[in-house]
Amino acid sequence: MKRRAAVLGLLLAAAGCAELRARYPGPDVVFIATPDGVTAEMLKLASVTGRDVVYDLGSGDGRVVVMAVRDFGARGVGVEIDPQLVQASRDRAFGAGVTERAMFLWQDLFVTDLREATVVTIYLRDDVNLRLRPKLLRELAPGSRVVSHDFDMGDWRPDRVQRVRGPHRDHTLYLWLVPADVAGLWRTRVGEREGVLNLSQRYQTLGGSLSLDGRELILTDAILRGDRITLTAGGLVLSGRVSPEAMEGDAGERGAVSTQAWTSRRVH
Ligand SMILES: C[S@@+](CC[C@H](N)C(=O)[O-])C[C@H]1O[C@@H](n2cnc3c(N)ncnc32)[C@H](O)[C@@H]1O
Repeated sequence: MKRRAAVLGLLLAAAGCAELRARYPGPDVVFIATPDGVTAEMLKLASVTGRDVVYDLGSGDGRVVVMAVRDFGARGVGVEIDPQLVQASRDRAFGAGVTERAMFLWQDLFVTDLREATVVTIYLRDDVNLRLRPKLLRELAPGSRVVSHDFDMGDWRPDRVQRVRGPHRDHTLYLWLVPADVAGLWRTRVGEREGVLNLSQRYQTLGGSLSLDGRELILTDAILRGDRITLTAGGLVLSGRVSPEAMEGDAGERGAVSTQAWTSRRVH
């Protein structure tokens, strides 16, 4: 009878472990700390200020989050799968006197809700970055910054790359601005003139055409940085801000001083 109870206990414990393992799988990469000087450059590259909420995904011993809060005035959230590192991070935040603005979650970074982050920092691996990429693009608001230490994002080209000399080696930092979603057809108005803007998009790279005054003008230049857009077609420069259903700004002939209002509404 006793033996049967013991076996049952073992089976239940194993089931519990399996459930825990399913919720908290092993780390995708092992802990290696970013040197402090390199961390400071990452946060500068992302232009972190007191208005930012910085998420460090795979936050190790919490040093990136603590620096973002203590030295840049941001609010910080660290997400780490190793509970001992989460505890070490909380101790570090306590030691630095930043517990009110620094939070550490014991969590798989792939399940973390990222919608409140304005800056995401990562030091993972290229294949892990690729798995994370759709989540970053889906959950972060346009204009949010992503900085990766040493690993890129495949065909999502960085907006900036910076090399930093560390204590033992050179490090590469990558910065991306999350691009607004602008692909599709837009009914557009330049001053009193009505037209149609047809945009194709691959991350921050745009192509397409502007139909105006019965002419179809191919875009010769298109820049999308977060939610800021500048389009050039047939000597006309349209520049403004994108929201999910609209673009608003001004339009002018290239090189001319005078401008007129430019608005667009999404058709689909
Ligand atoms: C290379 S370290 C970087 C630590 C810290 N961000 C830094 O730059 O100093 C990567 C960290 O990610 C954690 N990690 C790996 N996979 C994870 C996952 N799926 N969810 C959360 N943390 C993870 C590891 O435990 C490790 O602490």
